[in-house]
Amino acid sequence: MQPSPSRLVITPSATALNDGARAERMSKLSFGRAFTDHMAVIAYRDGAWQQGEIKAYGPLMLDPSCSSLHYGQAIFEGFKAFAQPDGGVATFRPEANAARFNRSAARLAMPALPPDLFLEAADALIDLERKWVPQQIGESLYMRPLMIATDPFLGVRPASEYLFVLFGSPAGAYFPKGVKPVTVWISEDFVRAAPGGTGEAKCAGNYAASLVAQAQAEQKGCDQVVWLDAVERQYVEEMGGMNLFFVYQQGGRTTIVTPELTGTLLPGITRDSLLQIARDLGYAAEERRLSVAQWRADIASGAMTEVFACGTAAVITPVGHVKANGFELTINHGENGSVTMALREALLGIQHGSVADTHGWMHTVAGK
Ligand code: PLP
Ligand code: COI
Repeated sequence: MQPSPSRLVITPSATALNDGARAERMSKLSFGRAFTDHMAVIAYRDGAWQQGEIKAYGPLMLDPSCSSLHYGQAIFEGFKAFAQPDGGVATFRPEANAARFNRSAARLAMPALPPDLFLEAADALIDLERKWVPQQIGESLYMRPLMIATDPFLGVRPASEYLFVLFGSPAGAYFPKGVKPVTVWISEDFVRAAPGGTGEAKCAGNYAASLVAQAQAEQKGCDQVVWLDAVERQYVEEMGGMNLFFVYQQGGRTTIVTPELTGTLLPGITRDSLLQIARDLGYAAEERRLSVAQWRADIASGAMTEVFACGTAAVITPVGHVKANGFELTINHGENGSVTMALREALLGIQHGSVADTHGWMHTVAGK
């Protein structure tokens, strides 16, 4: 369907940064600290999405009684726009984010946003903010869509009014130390998601509930928390904002393994892409349960040679050390592994347009 331009009115920001100020803001990129000049907002009321607007990035006005502030009717997504060799800009699998956004919305009793409107808003905003798309490999314009309940009412029931917001943030490495192995803490005191809960939705509450476990991980000298299943408390699920992969090398064969989707972990789009890229590179790829005991045994036997985490923001990050109550593991001598780095290079190559996009994952942002 051809996007209808009238669905989003553009009101240019009166305070957009000039070239020099923007270059300064983009000179030392980390993750999530700089924001572009504009944002897209689309309100939902009377059972329908209203005329949207792209306007100056800035604070939102919310009624203090709205249920997103009290009961957490709030979801979000994350995807990236990359500078391409031909001077254009392309986003990585944004339709997959649009689909997951609507699955999260359904789980939180929120209205679906038509995927073509999600994509239209993203393309229109990115097109307007082209100068904010960084040029270096590993850098991107990280796009953050979100939806919150906005109607003024204190009762606990699905709201009838919502706001969709989309903004961009030029991004460098997620971890301040760059592509260096992280140390992870296996959480036994806290769980992230139980069967029937919201683990596979990208809802705000999942992240609020993770913070105390993340703080505990940091107290233990770790960068990130690893979550276990809530029932048996022995199967590895995922990390704070990333999925996990385990690399096996046996008899000349390389296999990557990631925990299967049980409903309690986020079905990562990077995870899904890497299962495919691994097969393209000639590796075997499996989705199955992996217990902590098996993890320890496979490291001890030498069968498991690398572990890495992956996600939109973090791309691929090697895991070098694992800590838990009662034991510690070192993986691949605490160094970046060759399979991890080959997958990272292949993924970034597709995203930056230097490797053929054989699966049709890149979405070119059309110019006006
Ligand atoms: N798991 C969690 C809890 C996340 O927040 C994310 C990030 O979005 C991921 C996994 C990775 O998902 P994706 O690759 O779609 O970014
Ligand atoms: C992402 O990778 O897009 C995420 O949402 C992870 C994290 C920043 C919450």
